[in-house]
Amino acid sequence: MDSARGLTPSSPARPSRSNRSSRTILRSVLALGLVLACASTASAVKREDFKTCAQSGFCARNRAYADIAKEAPDWVSPFQLTPASVRLRNGIFTADLINTHESTNPSPRPPLALELHLLDNDAVRVRINERDAILPRYDGVQETVLVKPYGFASDVTYELSTDTASGTTTIQYGSQNQNTVKIGSAPFKIEFLVNGVSTVLLNDEGLLRFETLRRKEEEQKQSDDDSDDSDDSKLVDQDSEGESSEIVIEKSELEKKLEENLWEERFKEFTDSKPRGPESFGMDITFSGINHVYGIPEHATSLSLKATRGPDAPYSEPYRLYNLDVFEYEANNPMALYGSVPFMLGHSKNSTAAVFWMNAAETWIDVEKSAEDKSSGLLSWIKGKKTLSTPTTKTHWISESGVLDLFVFLGPTQRDIFRQYSSLVGTTVLPQSFAIAYHQCRWNYNTQQDVAETDAGFDEHDIPYDVLWLDIEHTNGKRYFTWDEPKFPNPTDMQQSLASRGRKMVTIVDPHIKMDSSFYVSKEGGELDVYIKNKDGKSSFDGWCWPGNSQWIDFYNPKARDWWASQFSYDRYQGSTKSLFTWNDMNEPSVFNGPEITIPKDTIHYGDVEHRNVHNLYGTMFHSATAQGLTQRNETQQRPFVLSRAFYAGTQRYGAIWTGDNMATWEHLEYASPMLLTIGLAGIPFSGADVGGFFGNPDAELLTRWYQAGVYYPFFRAHAHVDSKRREPWLFGEPYTTQIREAVRTRYAYLPFWYTLFYETSVDGTPIIRPMFTEFPEDEAVFAMDDQYMVGNALLVKPVSKPGVTRSTVYFAGSEKWFDIKDYSVEQGPGFKEVASPADKIPVYQRAGTILPKRERPRRSSKAMENDPFTLVIALDSEGKATGRIYLDDGETFSYEHGDFILREFEATGGVLSSRDARPASKEVAKVSDFVQRIAALRIERLVFVGSKVALKKVSVGGQELPVECVLAPNGGGHVCTVKEPRVTIGEDFELLFE
Ligand code: NOJ
Repeated sequence: MDSARGLTPSSPARPSRSNRSSRTILRSVLALGLVLACASTASAVKREDFKTCAQSGFCARNRAYADIAKEAPDWVSPFQLTPASVRLRNGIFTADLINTHESTNPSPRPPLALELHLLDNDAVRVRINERDAILPRYDGVQETVLVKPYGFASDVTYELSTDTASGTTTIQYGSQNQNTVKIGSAPFKIEFLVNGVSTVLLNDEGLLRFETLRRKEEEQKQSDDDSDDSDDSKLVDQDSEGESSEIVIEKSELEKKLEENLWEERFKEFTDSKPRGPESFGMDITFSGINHVYGIPEHATSLSLKATRGPDAPYSEPYRLYNLDVFEYEANNPMALYGSVPFMLGHSKNSTAAVFWMNAAETWIDVEKSAEDKSSGLLSWIKGKKTLSTPTTKTHWISESGVLDLFVFLGPTQRDIFRQYSSLVGTTVLPQSFAIAYHQCRWNYNTQQDVAETDAGFDEHDIPYDVLWLDIEHTNGKRYFTWDEPKFPNPTDMQQSLASRGRKMVTIVDPHIKMDSSFYVSKEGGELDVYIKNKDGKSSFDGWCWPGNSQWIDFYNPKARDWWASQFSYDRYQGSTKSLFTWNDMNEPSVFNGPEITIPKDTIHYGDVEHRNVHNLYGTMFHSATAQGLTQRNETQQRPFVLSRAFYAGTQRYGAIWTGDNMATWEHLEYASPMLLTIGLAGIPFSGADVGGFFGNPDAELLTRWYQAGVYYPFFRAHAHVDSKRREPWLFGEPYTTQIREAVRTRYAYLPFWYTLFYETSVDGTPIIRPMFTEFPEDEAVFAMDDQYMVGNALLVKPVSKPGVTRSTVYFAGSEKWFDIKDYSVEQGPGFKEVASPADKIPVYQRAGTILPKRERPRRSSKAMENDPFTLVIALDSEGKATGRIYLDDGETFSYEHGDFILREFEATGGVLSSRDARPASKEVAKVSDFVQRIAALRIERLVFVGSKVALKKVSVGGQELPVECVLAPNGGGHVCTVKEPRVTIGEDFELLFE
């Protein structure tokens, strides 16, 4: 029994997890009296628990097909479009696709149906499905992922012209008529051009492959006939004299691979029964003129995706998208992790484009890049066969089941792409304001007393925090919605006590339900019949998870979702209050005794849907049902807060995610930045990594550096494994407590800026933390940069992710100045510069040309700052100009949806600082709430002008002169002038003159 992990004797120990042994090793080391800094903990991912592409039948088959194509000197795709079938009506192009390799088949399968939808947001949807399939292929992902029916470009100009000689159909469309789609008939391929420049190509490499559904008996008969007749590798040929001779064509190893693992598949002790047989498909997508592609989270890898194919490819495995609970995952590895978003963005100096492969089944993606020819400075194609004058990235997408359903976004700018993509899959729901403050978590705060002491510890050490989290041990035997009563005798009082200091609590609720007829949730679930079913479609599936034998709610069942949501009402969830929120973990789903630690693919969901088709969406369905529960539990609606570990495209509509069980190592601190940047690019900006690292024990330096970095994660939470030592921010003593306090206070000071960024992403999907290339799209020096990034358009952040570092090399992009946020010392771009990064700070700079709103009074929680005045930091550019915005609302309800908010735009230009109402005209509100009126009247208590070439001499507002004090920036880069009490409020129009 492992009491530390709360496993009861009846609960099977987690079979494939190695932390028991790693803990034993750890103890032995400690017994030797060695000081073990966990920064040195080696990763111990159990690779053998997870499939490689070669072990995944459909991946191996499609990769073998790609190898066949690559090895054939004149490979062309066998797919051809039948000209007579081409139609374009109301923004939808349709045609039939035939597979010419099937022409020798005595009973060829019906053609595939190709559809192109030209959308009114300038995106194009490409669908390929079987026509007259023997069974319908799963096509339900769109119902849960797309937010609303989209409009077609029918009211936008488009032209259809077919060049009969080349068989190419051309469609010209787009709001500016800027996009061209060229559809080649034989071989079939599609090319997308923006303003005449080729950007994305589909099937250019001819890797389109579609395993049409077939009956096992027919296939069996066919193969029996083949072996009766003669070997199918033999052909009878007639020479010119009519003499026949037998030519023996041996199937190559690769061709044999195309027929492997079609009907049943084994992995370790598990058999996947694959009742419908093979139904995978794959296609290549080329980003032309583009050498950097990004996205397809979740992998612990770099921002600019490394190649997985080609002679110098750093990885040999494709990137895998299959939501999995990967214990002690490894950095710099394309293995699948907890979440999947099949969204990829390609970017070059001249073009930007993206694709969204809307499929929730297991998916693998190969990436192959043209290489830079260092000698000539040109780029040449690795394969040697072709020489390309432009860099190109070729990708190969392979999914196990469903239909090929792809969106292509042609920008032309990244902003356009974020808007186009988020208009389909939704933007981030605006969180309550507490949710973007600091969260304190560990597995576990053990008792009510422990909670009280931890809470008091923050006040004693003057460190602000907003939320205290309880992990699985707070429950009665991992029965979610219950409390371990001896340890938490009065949860309501506990939450009210936190709430009295403006704080909230989060408890964990996982999707596995302990099988226990005396547990009301388990019993009701059984009576309502809401569990996922075994492959027979009748009996409920059971497996192991934290509570021992468990069952998994089928969130595809509408009845299950509603029932689940109702569990969060205050009368059902005993001991819950308005200030209690939810953490959804283990929702890949994690099944300790399942194949690859998840649920078998042949289990069945509502509507007879095989789990295989929807695996990557399961966690999101759970997340959404929980968010629904938290929303509907109150009469006056309150925005929900739910953190999820698993995710898919669209998760942003339900809450935040985090990067799961990272390690307390410098390497994991380093990889957190590219992981979060990637997840943000893929439409899920509200994300964070466990500060401090989940497994292991960070030393004081690593923990402090992690806090300093975590301040700039959109979701900012410290968390630790049950076996790790306590590490509340004051436990390492000085100077660390002061350093961590300073870091956390910086987050609180910038909360108005963060909240404004959340508002902005909720409108147009622009990421909150942004790769450098998003803000500097023409500077090639930043295209692969992922060790520094931007918060919004204004703050440049460079985390320190190496021990013993006191100086860091920072890239200052653009030609304008950058101001250190602590002392306003100035740096000037473009170029690398070594700057100080002593133990008490990491490099963070405000960009010239921006105005940032802050609240500078240290408080115990964000709630306590609600009535505090504001500071504006005006970082003037070389022309003396700057702009910025602030968004404010009640931070809690949905009344902002009806326009009950403040949105101000600040502008400094020509010696005038002005504030004006920037609320969209459509957001007229019938009644502005008392709260918002009160906030609008809060004063701006300080203006800080930086970047002025001369010291300001005179500042006035409404004809009244204001006192101004100027000092020189420490490294002589300009003047820092402060105006105290400028006599203006945050919500009013004003014009303030400065000279
Ligand atoms: C796994 C989660 O990733 C981790 O954060 C949590 O502490 C444990 N499950 C226990 O609930």
